[in-house]
Amino acid sequence: MDMADQYAVIGHPVAHSKSPKIHSLFAQQTQQRLEYKAVLAPMDGFSATVRDFFLFGGLGCNVTVPFKQEAWQMAQQRSTYAEQAGAVNTLMRQADGILYGHNTDGIGLIRDLQINQQYALTNQRVLILGAGGAVRGIMQPLLETNPSEVWIANRTEATAAELVGLFERQGQVRSSGFSAIQGRFDLIINGTSASLQGDMPPIPSTCLDADTVCYDMMYGQEPTIFLKWAKQQGAERCIDGLGMLVEQAAEAFLLWRGIRPETTSVLTTLRASL
Ligand code: ATR
Repeated sequence: MDMADQYAVIGHPVAHSKSPKIHSLFAQQTQQRLEYKAVLAPMDGFSATVRDFFLFGGLGCNVTVPFKQEAWQMAQQRSTYAEQAGAVNTLMRQADGILYGHNTDGIGLIRDLQINQQYALTNQRVLILGAGGAVRGIMQPLLETNPSEVWIANRTEATAAELVGLFERQGQVRSSGFSAIQGRFDLIINGTSASLQGDMPPIPSTCLDADTVCYDMMYGQEPTIFLKWAKQQGAERCIDGLGMLVEQAAEAFLLWRGIRPETTSVLTTLRASL
């Protein structure tokens, strides 16, 4: 019997990645025959791992921590999302052999908000916490939805100011440290990795009210510290990043297979397995 089409997620660590489960659910649902594995690359061996994967017939892979910038460098052609994100989370070998790099993280976040959560971003005032790779990855798709303003607040102010420099031509963007945040926002997105250390970014409670949508790009069995805080402040809609994870995967699947899987049932299955 011939081999199924090969896909993978490459990272370090990678054993706990939910991508193999998500993509096998997509494959079942769309009746596509493919195999999707988790591949651990040595810290100094990402490009060799990718080269081998494609050499042995791999068609596409996802890239996760800490290799998204290296994947950007390896890609011979890039989508504008990948270009602007400075990071690649999806690689594909084109028919002409060219290695194509895309970034579906930001698209995944926006689809989760607009479609799954039915939240329209147009004219909304948005606060983003953090200014690292994860935040840079969502800036272009976010600004394409035409929010009235995007305010980037970060512990290290200079990093937030750099992001403003990169994106100010695409919309109303400004930056500050946490304590200087002013006014009320329609949407707050936590894109810091502070919750991994159990830290809450020290932001003024005046930036939200009951109608402020609060979104954490992280997820877990329990609500993140940011979502717990938001709930305590009275915010009624608190959303974690599991939907973003499933949507970024669906967008990669679409690029590779030319078919968009349905995500609601996959999200339900995944939620139950957390
Ligand atoms: P990622 O790929 O997750 O974005 P990153 O590029 O290292 O990782 O960025 C991490 C982000 O989380 C940064 O905005 C970082 O703030 P600094 O730029 O000041 O380092 C933020 N962050 C990490 N730990 C934090 C903490 N304990 N409190 C507040 N912000 C934190």
